[in-house]
Order: sequence, then structure tokens, then C-alpha cells
Amino acid sequence: MSQSSDASRYRPIPFVSGAVPGRGHFEEFCAHPAFFLQRAFRECGEVCEFDQGGMRTVLMVGPEAHEAVFRAPDEQLSAPAAYQYMVPIFGPGVQYGAPIEIERQQLKMHAKGLRAERLTYYAPIVAREVEDWISGWGDEGEMDFYEAFADLTIKTSTHCLLGAEFRYSLTDEFARHYHDLGEAADAAGTVDHTRQKAVYDRRDRARKALGELIIERIHRRRNAGETHDDLLQVYMDATLLDGSHLSDEQVAGMVVWFMFAGHHTSANTAAWTLVELARYPDFGREVTAEVDQLFATETELSFRALRKLPLMEGFIREILRAHPPLNALCRRVMQDFHYKDYCIEAGKNVMLSPYVAHRLPQYFPDPERFDPHRPEPENVFAYIPFGGGQRKCVGNAFALLQVKTIFGTLLKEFEFELAGPPGEYREIMPSLILRPSDPCVLRYRRRKH
Ligand code: HEM
Repeated sequence: MSQSSDASRYRPIPFVSGAVPGRGHFEEFCAHPAFFLQRAFRECGEVCEFDQGGMRTVLMVGPEAHEAVFRAPDEQLSAPAAYQYMVPIFGPGVQYGAPIEIERQQLKMHAKGLRAERLTYYAPIVAREVEDWISGWGDEGEMDFYEAFADLTIKTSTHCLLGAEFRYSLTDEFARHYHDLGEAADAAGTVDHTRQKAVYDRRDRARKALGELIIERIHRRRNAGETHDDLLQVYMDATLLDGSHLSDEQVAGMVVWFMFAGHHTSANTAAWTLVELARYPDFGREVTAEVDQLFATETELSFRALRKLPLMEGFIREILRAHPPLNALCRRVMQDFHYKDYCIEAGKNVMLSPYVAHRLPQYFPDPERFDPHRPEPENVFAYIPFGGGQRKCVGNAFALLQVKTIFGTLLKEFEFELAGPPGEYREIMPSLILRPSDPCVLRYRRRKH
């Protein structure tokens, strides 16, 4: 049967209004992806199509659609094909730049480095980093906490995942290079090609420099015959199914990939957590009381002690519902994909948006209300800040541990308030991440115990 007669059996996919000739919805999408996707859903419903400057993209909304996408094999809905622009950032031979069977083994290596027994080492390290940070604060002051959390989480991640030697010798240089790589991911969708070229040149220089720094560390360890209890060692020792090891270049790529995936997502979650604790002082007091109760019986924030912070955990989960950092989860359709009465043809992209999904009133009643006591929906595919299925975030437990430890340590010593009117702290999306508006200034004051 010909494709056109076959296609006539399916329901046409509604097309979002407002496309500009030759550009489609590209500019509107880039200006604020989450808001654009919300508009598209409100106008057209659970399945709708838009034009990202020539790339036909189908937005799919709701747990049933999420499950269908997350469960589809890579051969049909491919993440690597959709995210090829990430390959120059991480380097060849890893993640989407590696053959799919190698990439799967690499994902398992990441997961191995974050197993529960390893997480027990990380909470005290994060707490120590936060204590070092606040030791220079004095009794009160103001700070741009978005920038500050970006700085802090690069230190905590470097320290936990790559060891103290990395953390204390490389952090500033590391942070600069990561910044340049981050810009390149954002510029993938930019309209300005002159800017894009400059950004890509900086990306390539940063990636080369990072690779050299990491490979130098690998050589140092090997020459000294040292082994360490961190993720770098996991990658250095790992064997692929054919018995071979990752090359040094690939080990460097694994480090860059892993740090990149976890850095801005966690920093952003920490920034929103602080903003909402201050915007809703009653909830802020509840969470602080829970921290005080914990320290009545515990002397440090161990992995075990963090379990005694269910209110804080609920608060962070509500942050990830209301302000999910990643909002354009993409797959390239490799073979026609059938969903309900629709056929999404090969060559298009499908997209899921946690931002839109988390505002469906049938799963999250009164969705615009911030409510840390909200029960989790029964359907696990309704709440998707960490994605789902085979490609669900491997760093989710580490991210929660990190944010809980940061706030356990901060709230013990300080109280916070917004420095501007509450309405000033808006959701902006200048890049791939949904973040609080810039600058994100709050006041802090040392608590009187
Ligand atoms: C609040 C923090 C975080 C959020 C909201 C988040 C979100 C996500 C999402 C939505 C995905 C799936 C992407 C997709 O399906 O296309 C993902 C994948 C991933 N995340 Fe996270 N993440 C966070 C923190 C972390 C951390 C701390 C790490 C590492 C330490 C990490 C490592 C990864 C990795 C390795 C993947 C797999 C990427 C792939 O399949 O290529 N993430 N994350």
C-alpha cells in the first residue's frame, strides 16, 4: 500500500497556529520553549505538530503518551539521532557519539558509580563544601543565588564524583570550560549564526582543554599506581562486553558528559528551592523545623540521616513538578510511530515536556498552586522531571541527595527572604534550562539559636 493511502487511515495531527513562512515556530519556540509548548497544548491538545525551522516536531502530552515514547526502542524513537548536536560537546566515542550498544554499556558505568552504597560517601562531602562556603558569609547579606549555586554544585560534583584531588586543583578552570560547553548546547537553537560560530569555537577549545586536564590526571594515577574510590576510577577500570577498556579520550568524554548532565540541573533545582522557601515562609518554617528536629538527634548529615527529611523531600519534588529544569525531551522517529489514531512519520521528532505534563489538572489538581504536601499521582508516567524508561536520569538519587544536603546545612544556620517583590522571580528559559529570572537575589540572616 502506498504511504499516502496508508496515511489517510490516520487522524491528521493538529498543526499549531502562528507559523512564520520559512521559519515556522522557530523564534517563538526559542524565546521560551516551555511557554510555547504550553500554548501549543492548550490550543491543540495531547498530540500536536509544530515546525522548528524545518524540523517537524510532534509534542505528545499525558502519561499514556509519555509511556509510549519512553518504552519505544531506540531503533524506532532515537535519542542519539535527536541529540546529535551534543556530540562535539562530549567528544566522539561516548554517549550519542558512540554506537548504541556501546552507549548502553556506558550508561551502566554511570549507574555503577552512583549505586546506593556509594551515595553514603557523598552526603558528608556535600555538607563539608556547603560549610566551607557559608563560613565566609558573616551574619547577614545579599547574594545572587543562581550564580552561587552553579558555583557550589560544580565543586560538590567534582569533589564527590572525581575526588578531592580534582576538586582542589582544578575547579576554577573546570568551571570556566564547563560554562563554554554549556553555551554551545544553548546556541544549538540560536537564530544568530555569527554568534553560533563564535560559541562553537569556544566550545571546541574548552572541550580540548578539559580533555587534556582529565587525561593528565588519568596518567598521573596510572604512573603512581594509585586507585581512588570515585567515578573517574570506575570509568578507568570498566570493561566493555568484549573485554576492552575505554580509551583515555573516552574516559575524559564520560567525565564531561556526566558532570554536564548533573551540573545546571542540580544548581537550578537548588535555586528554585531557595526562592520558593522564601516566597512561602509558612512552608519555609515547616521545613526548617524538620531540619532542627533532625539535628536534635544527629550530629551530621549522613545518607541515613537525610531519610529523616520527608517534608524537605516533598518540597523538592514539588519544585521539580512546578519548575522542571529540562523541558524539551526529544526523540527522532526512525520508523513510523503509531499512537492512538495518529501516525507520526519517520524523519520527524517527537517531544515530551515535563512543564506541560506537570500542569495537567487531572493528575495535579489546581496545578498553579505551589503545594509541597501534594500526593504523588498514581501513574508513574504523569510526573516526569527525570524522564522515564530506559533513558531515565541515572543521577536522580544523587541530585536529591545533593539538594537535601545543601538545604539541611543552610537552614540549620541561616534564614532567607526575597530581596525583591515575589512577582519578580519569574520563570525564564534563555537556554535549555527553565531557571529563575536574572539576577536571583535573596537576603540571608544568621539564625539565633
Ligand atoms: C534535578 C536534577 C536533574 C534533573 C531534573 C535531570 C533530568 C534528566 C532527564 C529529564 C533526563 C532524560 C533525558 C531524556 O529522556 O531525553 C536525564 C538523563 C540523564 N541524567 Fe539527569 N537530571 C538531573 C540530575 C542529574 C545528575 C546529578 C546527574 C549525574 C550526576 C545526571 C545524569 C544524567 C545522565 C547520565 C542521563 C542520561 C542521558 C542519556 O541517556 O544520554 N542527571 N536527566
